[in-house]
Amino acid sequence: MERIRHTQAWSTLEALSTGIKRQHMRDWFAADKNRASEYTTNACGITLDYSKNRVTEEVLKALFELAEQRQVSNKINAMFAGGLINTTEHRAVLHTALRNFSGNKVMVDGEDVMPSVLATLDKMKAFTQSVQSGAHKGCTGKPIKKVVCIGIGGSFLGPKIVTEALKPYKNKVLDVRFVANVDACHIQDVLSECNFEETLFVMSSKSFNTQETLQNTLTAKAWFLQQGATVTDIAKHFVAVSSNVKAATDFGMAADNVFPMADWVGGRYSLWSAIGLPICLAIGFDNFRQVLQGAYEMDEHTKTTPFESNLPVILAVLGVWYRNFMGAQSHVLLPYYHYLRGFPAYVQQLDMESNGKTTTQNGMTVDHGTGPIIWGGEGTNGQHSFHQLIHQSNLPIPADFMLPIKVLDQDDTHHAMLASNCFGQTQALMQGKTFEECYRDLGDKDLSDEERVKLAAHKTMPGNKPSNTLLFEQLDPKTLGALIALYEHKVLIQGAIWDVNSFDQWGVELGKVLGNDVLNVIQGNKSDEHLDASTAALIAQFNQAQKN
Ligand code: F6P
Repeated sequence: MERIRHTQAWSTLEALSTGIKRQHMRDWFAADKNRASEYTTNACGITLDYSKNRVTEEVLKALFELAEQRQVSNKINAMFAGGLINTTEHRAVLHTALRNFSGNKVMVDGEDVMPSVLATLDKMKAFTQSVQSGAHKGCTGKPIKKVVCIGIGGSFLGPKIVTEALKPYKNKVLDVRFVANVDACHIQDVLSECNFEETLFVMSSKSFNTQETLQNTLTAKAWFLQQGATVTDIAKHFVAVSSNVKAATDFGMAADNVFPMADWVGGRYSLWSAIGLPICLAIGFDNFRQVLQGAYEMDEHTKTTPFESNLPVILAVLGVWYRNFMGAQSHVLLPYYHYLRGFPAYVQQLDMESNGKTTTQNGMTVDHGTGPIIWGGEGTNGQHSFHQLIHQSNLPIPADFMLPIKVLDQDDTHHAMLASNCFGQTQALMQGKTFEECYRDLGDKDLSDEERVKLAAHKTMPGNKPSNTLLFEQLDPKTLGALIALYEHKVLIQGAIWDVNSFDQWGVELGKVLGNDVLNVIQGNKSDEHLDASTAALIAQFNQAQKN
């Protein structure tokens, strides 16, 4: 693929950006009363208002042309068709097959993967029903009341945010907890609240080779046996999800208790697979099925909708505009819904592990910006903290605001306040407040003109800060599935435009290898000769302190 800077659309966008930087969105809204409706679209229960962005029709046209010139449609089609688009690992990328309700086959290496997808869903359904109904008994005949899910990265973040976001749909019998960090504080805290007779452990690891997850499972197993259980009781209390079924059974998991997943499911795209078992246990299989359904509908929308009204394409090209032409290095996610508070952390892995790359598909170093820093937090809390920097610093930070219009068991007063803050922030970011307005407002204060001028300068808000607003009719299981798929596809499309492989993660793999190497040095199994002086000294200080 040619360098992105050599495309016609790139040159057009570069030229346009010079003019756009001199214009203010406030003037566009004043001049065009229809701007909001012209730049609002919806699909799958999600309304996207992207009118508060620093784009004109001309800019959007050029951005869509860029997407064309980068063959975005080919990439989307290749992914859905099972093409080996994860080129460095020679794998298909088929999380979409896990929510494929079209009835069509999905072929990988000449084989239809749908029968195994459906068989795993059946197994998850049967297991969920038996645990939730109490038919599945623990080793002393008691039903399960607590589920401890052990996994990290994609084997943790997806199930965690979905169960959190769908709290109103939670099954009241089972209390589902997550443990990810190898820091013992985490697992000890959770175990201290468990009764071994009523606890089920779900160990999730695609590779079955992740230090944190293996160690936490060993700790859980040792705790379980210390409580008085026997080795044969383990089969009633421990299940695993993995694509490495052999490693799971070698580890001691009963073969029947292993829920398989395929190697064409990437970790950060895996909540739709058996990695979603904790979701089923928390909210029931039927609700999990609705999550899949919502994602399937977003898949269909993405495949079949013209770029101009295609939600993932619009979000993706706007992100490219800010990252490559308007100087943005980060993108903030602001869910105005307490139960969606984990979404920024989820998208952080999804986006940063996917597009935090600087090598093109051909092995060249990029000469353009790629994935931004993703961060954020729930509104309104952020308004009393980091929003200050978004409003008045000179860092351009595009924002995605999110709000469910209706929530279950709604308190109207609270919800109206939440909504007003969300909308008010998007308005303030766009409009800002001019020096003249601030100066005028200070007219009734007892200030000298010099003081008034100085204070007005501090209060001036430049505005012209871009944001998208995503409204959900209701954040039910189906809409949540669509929302997650929306961001997955945004990331795919941006990766296609930037010509990076969004599906490997060699940087984090190196972290795993180095972590194990250093552990060997700390535990005295290996000398520190190969280490740099700083790392060796840190280990020496750590080891010395352990001895004291
Ligand atoms: O941290 C890297 C990573 O490979 C993620 O991509 C993945 O989601 C996580 O580790 C967990 O891996 P596994 O499911 O194999 O334990």
